[in-house]
Amino acid sequence: MGSRTLQGKTAIVTGGASGIGSAVTRLFVERGARVVVVDLQEEAGRRIAAELGDAVVFLQGDVSDRKVADAAVATAVDRFGSLDVLVNNASVSRQKPFEEQTDDDWDLAMNTGLYATRNFMLAALPELKKTGNASVVNFGSGAGLNGQPNQASYAAAKEAIRGLSRVAANEWAPHNIRVNVVCPMALTAGVAQWAEARPEQYAQSAASVPLGRFGDPDRDVAPIVAFLASDDARYMTGQTVMADGGAVKLR
Ligand SMILES: NC(=O)c1ccc[n+]([C@@H]2O[C@H](COP(=O)([O-])OP(=O)(O)OC[C@H]3O[C@@H](n4cnc5c(N)ncnc54)[C@H](O)[C@@H]3O)[C@@H](O)[C@H]2O)c1
Repeated sequence: MGSRTLQGKTAIVTGGASGIGSAVTRLFVERGARVVVVDLQEEAGRRIAAELGDAVVFLQGDVSDRKVADAAVATAVDRFGSLDVLVNNASVSRQKPFEEQTDDDWDLAMNTGLYATRNFMLAALPELKKTGNASVVNFGSGAGLNGQPNQASYAAAKEAIRGLSRVAANEWAPHNIRVNVVCPMALTAGVAQWAEARPEQYAQSAASVPLGRFGDPDRDVAPIVAFLASDDARYMTGQTVMADGGAVKLR
């Protein structure tokens, strides 16, 4: 048996049915957590819940909808008795040059990225306070830090998430609620689609990684999220952690 660093904790993982989110869900359960997975994809959600058994409840819904955030928190408390960890992983965007991005493109990036993160944090806050020892892990992106072309709305949403996370880290520290950000780089189905649409950008990104490859969601990214969620990271808050093979070095 691996380490049980999340034993007894209950988590919400948005977008937890596939990609990095499903890797996080699987590792959290392996390390002893119970997880409410919130995802749009009904079939993938049911599959991961069936795979992981009683430790996972799947809630089908759109993270942009505030009522879904409330329902996820209520589900965690009803089914598992508390909420200790919130992972805001889901987000979607469309890639095109800034001047071609429509209001609808901006709404998609902001609603699924920034506003979903805000709404889940606010919905979770009363329960996180009750635990006296909670962790929020939000997702940023190297695209925001680097100003990746074709990612204007996405980069703006992701950098706004980092700003929000730093404020919340300060405001919620008295409740011992830690708030950190992970910026991953991992070869998921979403990235594979992007690689297909923009092969030159993909090749350039992969070549710029000092460790020489796109990360593996299970082995390279999920363990960093699990660390931030665990008490091993009890003295870390307000940080951005790059899970990207060294592509970006924060100062
Ligand atoms: N994969 C990377 O290299 C990379 C790089 C930088 C940042 N990120 C960030 O990491 C996170 C995960 O990325 P990924 O590559 O695993 O993404 P992905 O597209 O593979 O998976 C996202 C998951 O979220 C779900 N989802 C999408 N929109 C939703 C909505 N409105 N409501 C509920 N669920 C929804 C999807 O069904 C899917 O299960 C995202 O925040 C992404 O921006 C990823």
